[in-house]
Amino acid sequence: MTTPTACRMCRGTVIEVLDLGPQPSANAFLAPGSADLEMVYRLAAGICESCTLLQLIDDTPPDLRYSDTYRYEASGSAGARRHFAQVAERLLATELTGADPFIVEIGCNDGVLLDHFARAGVRHLGVEPSKGVAELAMAKGVNVTTEFFGTSTAVDIRERFGRADVVFGANTICSITDIADLMRGVDTLLSDDGVFVFEEPYADTIVRKRAFDQIYDEHVFYFSVRSVQEMAHRFGFELVDAEQIQQHGGEIRYTLARPGTRTLSPMVGMLLFREAEAGLADPVALRAWAADVQNTRTRLVALLENIRAEGHRVVGYGAPAKATTMTNFCGIGPDLLPFICDSTPGKQGRLTPGSHIPVRPRDAFAGDYPQYALLFAWNHAAEIMAKEQEFSEQGGKWIVYVPGVRVI
Ligand code: TMP
Ligand code: ZN
Repeated sequence: MTTPTACRMCRGTVIEVLDLGPQPSANAFLAPGSADLEMVYRLAAGICESCTLLQLIDDTPPDLRYSDTYRYEASGSAGARRHFAQVAERLLATELTGADPFIVEIGCNDGVLLDHFARAGVRHLGVEPSKGVAELAMAKGVNVTTEFFGTSTAVDIRERFGRADVVFGANTICSITDIADLMRGVDTLLSDDGVFVFEEPYADTIVRKRAFDQIYDEHVFYFSVRSVQEMAHRFGFELVDAEQIQQHGGEIRYTLARPGTRTLSPMVGMLLFREAEAGLADPVALRAWAADVQNTRTRLVALLENIRAEGHRVVGYGAPAKATTMTNFCGIGPDLLPFICDSTPGKQGRLTPGSHIPVRPRDAFAGDYPQYALLFAWNHAAEIMAKEQEFSEQGGKWIVYVPGVRVI
């Protein structure tokens, strides 16, 4: 099954390690009746022999991914709102203390971060190609340019506003297929003493924690400290910090600066050591992981079939993009899971991509508790389980599948 492909970052050979089958674009929730227009592609990941960057084998066109059907709102959980408030507070206290500072966010989504700078009167600009979420940001008073980020956008922003003290991205940098163009853009836009800060899904979480549902079309790259260090060198930067954060199950916040401008954090070396131990750059170790992923599918489907055979009901909780990967990989449709409840108004009344499971508001769950709830939004387990205590008190059980299938 090995398909040699050229690495998008260094042109080295990419060796395929995991195939998750035919999949649609993960956030393209469908209006009922529009399913026949849906496109699918092969979702498979591979590792670059040279720079070790884990990445998709095939990718979907960005304008298909970030079209009007794009329904992800970054401020959709209390955890995310709290997280970005803290990011803003720290940047204001550290990197944005000079005269008239300027921050650019690549992929500002609904303005969950930039809103804090807008309210603090700090110069900021969001670059966001998805019109629907960009409008939500603008409604909060955030400055947004509705386009994709790349070298030409960076030249344009620099001419209009000058160079940026901070270029920031959250779950966005991993989605920019032309990573070389992105890095040249950052180089163009960033001031000599500026920092490029981005927080992204972590290959170690995906592999060691078996969080393979983070693999979907929007995430073209699954960075590690080692591959980001390679990327930094290649484009004239230095990786000066790597902090572990917990938003989507375990990410890293990377800080890149011009060489010699910052002190190197000891975390970089520590995580490099741990990654080598985990075999993150080793195709043999990654194939063993792929076999575990197949086991998770077998066990989850068997559990859902047993529940159905016993005459019990199970519904899905949370319809993040992760649920698209999971339902399509496992072949879970409305016959096994009649609906998924989700708090995002834009997803409600629509069907999950590919698997065509109806998405309903939380009331559909709370109004008539099932015996089981399959927790797709497992990264928000604490927040959701606290909110849904009554479900558990009435005997309801949660099904989770990361790092393995469990009923709790
Ligand atoms: P995310 O982890 O990618 O932010 O997506 C979480 C999804 O779960 C999003 O679609 C909103 C949904 N969700 C709920 O439906 N209820 C909740 O209580 C929380 C926290 C999230
Ligand atoms: Zn490479």
